Amino acid sequence: MIDGYTRTCGLIGNPVEHTLSPVIHNMLAGMLSHNLVYVPFSVEEGKLEDAVKGAFALNLLGLNITVPYKSQVIPYLSGIDDLAEKIGAVNTLVRNSEGFMGYNTDMPGLYRAMCSEGIEIKGQDVILLGAGGAARAVAFLCASKGVNKVYLLNRSLEKACIVAEEVNRKAGRECIYPKALAEYKHLPEKSFLAIQATSVGLYPEIEKAVIEDEDFYRRIHTGYDLIYKPADTKFMQLVRKQGGRAFHGLKMLLYQGVIAYELWNDVSVSEEAALQVYEMLKEKMEIKESL
Ligand code: ATR
Repeated sequence: MIDGYTRTCGLIGNPVEHTLSPVIHNMLAGMLSHNLVYVPFSVEEGKLEDAVKGAFALNLLGLNITVPYKSQVIPYLSGIDDLAEKIGAVNTLVRNSEGFMGYNTDMPGLYRAMCSEGIEIKGQDVILLGAGGAARAVAFLCASKGVNKVYLLNRSLEKACIVAEEVNRKAGRECIYPKALAEYKHLPEKSFLAIQATSVGLYPEIEKAVIEDEDFYRRIHTGYDLIYKPADTKFMQLVRKQGGRAFHGLKMLLYQGVIAYELWNDVSVSEEAALQVYEMLKEKMEIKESL
């Protein structure tokens, strides 16, 4: 029941119409008996500062930030968490007395998702596909979780080099090795965890994978695609075809939301509750039980 005590959280982005975040937060609020609602807010270009100030004035408890504002929002915050500053992207704002503090829950969300699937990063050899915003965050995650080596493969080698240099410098260790995409043919003969962080294969271009050569997939023991729409990407299919295990990105979405919810409400959400929400997300996405 919405009443005079109801707290509001929301999502700022453009577009926001297809978001699954209201499912996550409104379901958690219901399960935990919190008097909280979560609403998407479509914010036009040029209106971000007004939106953040307005949200503070309206006593909003917290916000998620999505495309295209994850970096643009930083100047309007009262503070930024260390990890979010390193990554250079904020997806969660938490209200304090002066304004909003910025956090990044995407990366810890991916880590929690991987842990829940039993996927290790420590000591692994990783192939990271992509050098955009999502890939940068994954590169930081790998560097901070004791990866052995990350081969960062990207269409634009220049962008791969920039990301690798930055992550190696900030992590204080040389573990990210930039390569052009075509270099996949010359990687060491090892078995890899591959993380797919490009936008290739995203709905509606579902018949594409960033590397289509089946030979490449022979060396992948586990493939993790950050894409969740579709829930079975071409990349995942190619991984499975060569005997590897394949995962989509819906659990990462789940846990970035769970961690934001924990920050807003100063609670910890049990794995059991999180998995109940996950079932609902799968239902909304019409994802088969086997995936
Ligand atoms: P996000 O924030 O989701 O990471 P992004 O920053 O736009 O999105 O990054 C998109 C990634 O997908 C980049 O690594 C991009 O490669 P480039 O840096 O060379 O542009 C990659 N990408 C997009 N379309 C691609 C394609 N057709 N082939 C190969 N890589 C592609």
